[in-house]
Amino acid sequence: APDIPVASVQAHLAEFQRIATANGGNRAHGRPGYQASLNYVKSKLDAAGYQTRIQQFTSSGATGYNLIADWPGGDANNVIMAGGHLDSVSRGPGINDNGSGSAGLLEVALTVARQNVKPQKHLRFGWWGAEELGLVGSTFYVNSLSSAQRGLIKGYVNFDMTGSPNPGYFVYSASGQPTGSKAIEDLLEAGFAGKSVQTELTSVGGRSDHAAFARAGIPVGGTFSGAEVRKTAAQAQKWGGQSGVAFDRCYHQACDTTSNINATSLDRHTDVIAYALYSLIGA
Ligand code: PHE
Ligand code: CA
Ligand code: ZN
Ligand code: ZN
Ligand code: ZN
Repeated sequence: APDIPVASVQAHLAEFQRIATANGGNRAHGRPGYQASLNYVKSKLDAAGYQTRIQQFTSSGATGYNLIADWPGGDANNVIMAGGHLDSVSRGPGINDNGSGSAGLLEVALTVARQNVKPQKHLRFGWWGAEELGLVGSTFYVNSLSSAQRGLIKGYVNFDMTGSPNPGYFVYSASGQPTGSKAIEDLLEAGFAGKSVQTELTSVGGRSDHAAFARAGIPVGGTFSGAEVRKTAAQAQKWGGQSGVAFDRCYHQACDTTSNINATSLDRHTDVIAYALYSLIGA
């Protein structure tokens, strides 16, 4: 699998920051900063050769949008999906939550295109709207599929917060969701182990978009660098950083800017996205 240059991911984050700053300080559902973020990601994917589609829904009286991008080719009866939410809370620009996962997914998608990967399985990405209002976009997407279409999705991997300033290296525990996949969990762990990064399993439950897929019976997994919970002394021993301090002190705050990103964490988590996806699709 390719080693994704973190500078390329940071460039997407700089664009998300510019968009938020130009649009009232956020990229939230129903706000112009969301639309601009969607346009940015879509235009990059279109230029790279993805088949993109915008799916509209309504939530809290505003129109929301999911972006779905298919990489042409691969076995249509074996679909691997990766995704994360593109919306921020209204209080801030949402650069770690979840510009980080969104930008990492985008750069991995662009790398697949640059390498003209011919995978065995079909690869599809999703950038979800209105996660912050209760997994609204991802739930809408899953509900829009027939049960036959759901059955073709053999795995969904979620990335929500990967550049936390006081980072952890968490892998979603397979036992923490109805259809948590032990195979995906082990694959993500192997990706970090290959970079000599120690991991911990975390029970994220229903806190991000993978939960919509899990409820629909689709095998799920993901990685996470931590939010409002404080890093323990043992975790600081293992990972460095500050014990007794939140993984992300700016979680859901106005200070979740490009200054709120640990580049090493962003780099490692993004490389693991590439590692896991290339393996899952048979690239
Ligand atoms: N989904 C949460 C949010 O956007 C963050 C989170 C991600 C929490 C993953 C736990 C696990 O606010
Ligand atoms: Ca890298
Ligand atoms: Zn959030
Ligand atoms: Zn989030
Ligand atoms: Zn495991």
